[in-house]
Amino acid sequence: MNSADIRPRFRVAPGGRIGGELTVPGDKSISHRALMLGGIAAGDTEINGFLEGADCLSTLRALQGLGVRIERPAPERVVVHGAGAAALIGSSAPLDMGNAGTAMRLFMGLLAPQPFDSVLIGDESLMRRPMERVAGPLRQMGARIETREGRPPVHIRGTPTLHGIDFRMPVASAQVKSALLLAGLGASGRTRISEPAPTRDHTERMLGAFGVAVHREGSSVSLEGGQPLRGTQVQVPADFSSAAFFIVAALLAAEDGLLLRNVGVNPTRTGLLEMLKRMGADIRLQPHAGVAAEPTADIEVRKSRLRGIHVPRELVPLAIDEFPIFFIAAALAEGETTVRGAEELRVKETDRLAAMSSGLSVLGVDNHLLDDGLWIRGGSGFGGGTVDSHGDHRIAMAFAIAALAARAPVEILDVANVATSFPGFPELARAAGLAIETL
Ligand code: S3P
Repeated sequence: MNSADIRPRFRVAPGGRIGGELTVPGDKSISHRALMLGGIAAGDTEINGFLEGADCLSTLRALQGLGVRIERPAPERVVVHGAGAAALIGSSAPLDMGNAGTAMRLFMGLLAPQPFDSVLIGDESLMRRPMERVAGPLRQMGARIETREGRPPVHIRGTPTLHGIDFRMPVASAQVKSALLLAGLGASGRTRISEPAPTRDHTERMLGAFGVAVHREGSSVSLEGGQPLRGTQVQVPADFSSAAFFIVAALLAAEDGLLLRNVGVNPTRTGLLEMLKRMGADIRLQPHAGVAAEPTADIEVRKSRLRGIHVPRELVPLAIDEFPIFFIAAALAEGETTVRGAEELRVKETDRLAAMSSGLSVLGVDNHLLDDGLWIRGGSGFGGGTVDSHGDHRIAMAFAIAALAARAPVEILDVANVATSFPGFPELARAAGLAIETL
């Protein structure tokens, strides 16, 4: 860092105790989808528990740019006045997705069958991320889409004559699956997608709530084009991916336990719980009764002695966003931990394998960066030091939690993007017992 660097950073004093009860903000994946489906539905959609993070606000503004009327009677309450997909109008300005990969990829599917043209752009990180994984199959459906060497800007020439396809995804990606389902709604015939491993199924669940018939069979999901969506009520649970930071914080430092309230525990998201339990973690779920589209639970976590594991490959897509904080847990577990089959982490907001490996090395943890994962020898704690988050929200929050087990202060650079998924993180972390300040 040079003295002219004015990007915000965290400084976290070592040690501290974690405890009490917390409710983390709403789920990012579900908030994006509720806005988008509300935007193409006929009638009002009321969203409660909405994540007021920068990523979801990019989706909200993009929908407004496409002519959708949206009201926000409270920060976590949004009313989308949908008038059906046919009521969308083209935006003369490029639609700016900010840092949000989910927004860009899902909008590609949503906009491809529209009769107007669109241009999608994003911030420096998003402009480097791969978009052909969505553009390719959309072209097979008849879409006219151009990327710049596979990356944004994405130019979509509206083509209201798309046709359904049968597509086997080469990567396990809920964003690709969701984009193709959205395009399939505006296409003729049936769109069928099979996945190489289960990925988050929020789109499928929510389409059902909007009145769309979605068929699931084994590893594939399909729908008929032309089905109308009816506005509905969406209750967004607290984001498991945000709760994950406090689950690990509590494993490190909650002698008397920590209670996380009302967390989304969709089984396609909670691979981290299985991984941590295999390491010896004391985590208990109190599931909520009811028939909501998304299951929720209170999660109670106590300080635990962890041991290293080899993470089964099938758990990787079910914990894809939790690896930064999982690697912190692994660094404190006795013995070796290995993660393989996680090459997707290299194309997230930053290369999360490289960023975590170098940050762990700064804090004195023995580790090896692998092509598709990371090997860590844990158990000797953390030294202090300055770690670069590379502008990645989850890397920043993971290293902030690491300070609980450090011998000296940990400073984390370039943390403004924490607000993309977890607005208020430093304040909530302080309330839970972390000695964190933003500089
Ligand atoms: C998401 C899917 C995942 C995940 C991302 C959110 C979604 O991405 O990493 O944070 O909401 O569909 P991939 O589809 O690229 O795995």
